[in-house]
Amino acid sequence: MRKKIVAGNWKMHKNAEQTEDLLNELIAKIPTDIDAQVIVAPTFVNLASAVDHLEFTSISVAAQNMHQAESGAYTGEISADMLKSVGVNTVILGHSERRAIFHETDALIASKVDTALQHDITVIFCFGEELKDRQSKNHFNIVENQLKDGLFHLKAKDWEKIVLAYEPVWAIGTGETASPEQAQEMHEFIRETVRKTFGSDVAEDVSILYGGSVKPDNAKEIFSKPDVDGGLIGGAALKADDFLAIVNAI
Ligand code: G3P
Repeated sequence: MRKKIVAGNWKMHKNAEQTEDLLNELIAKIPTDIDAQVIVAPTFVNLASAVDHLEFTSISVAAQNMHQAESGAYTGEISADMLKSVGVNTVILGHSERRAIFHETDALIASKVDTALQHDITVIFCFGEELKDRQSKNHFNIVENQLKDGLFHLKAKDWEKIVLAYEPVWAIGTGETASPEQAQEMHEFIRETVRKTFGSDVAEDVSILYGGSVKPDNAKEIFSKPDVDGGLIGGAALKADDFLAIVNAI
């Protein structure tokens, strides 16, 4: 069954004290009758405390990345087993910042997906075109290739642990949100692309989130589209009232 999801990607923001403050505000204000899964993704150093803090709430915790190896001489990296050991069962992979700044390739992201699934970790798989791709009308191609190169080696059953997050790079952190129509058009294309290879059950059950300058004043219209199943929120996730306004818009 396709789930509605609102996830906050905190990126490199909030130290331990600020994380606790924001979580306390979210816990105090989150409505009890939300028909969506609510996820927060603090930085690595705050994951364990966030899991403890949110234990008896409806909010779950995701990591923003992980390494593909089981363990080894990878200074500064975090493994799937380490995430599981602190109670984290969801990870964001393939974020455009990991691709652009840290040069993560489709093949590397695919291997991270495999490791996450081997550890029964749900993957929020990020992908999306750059402005130049859309301007040259190559955006469907780019999105299709990222999707296929990252996930199409999987078996149908694996998709039970996959959440897709379409994030047009030109909308991330820019205030230039994709229009609801642009989001729906690409989400529909993504769902059809999945359907062609994995069939209708997988295509209909996979949640496809939109990310890229989702704010309290645009969330409702974006989320109202039939193939938009929620959002992956950056800047607006760092303020409790803004994030909860977006959660309430689902
Ligand atoms: O992963 C979500 C993020 O990339 C979107 O950022 O600030 O445009 O909501 P923002």
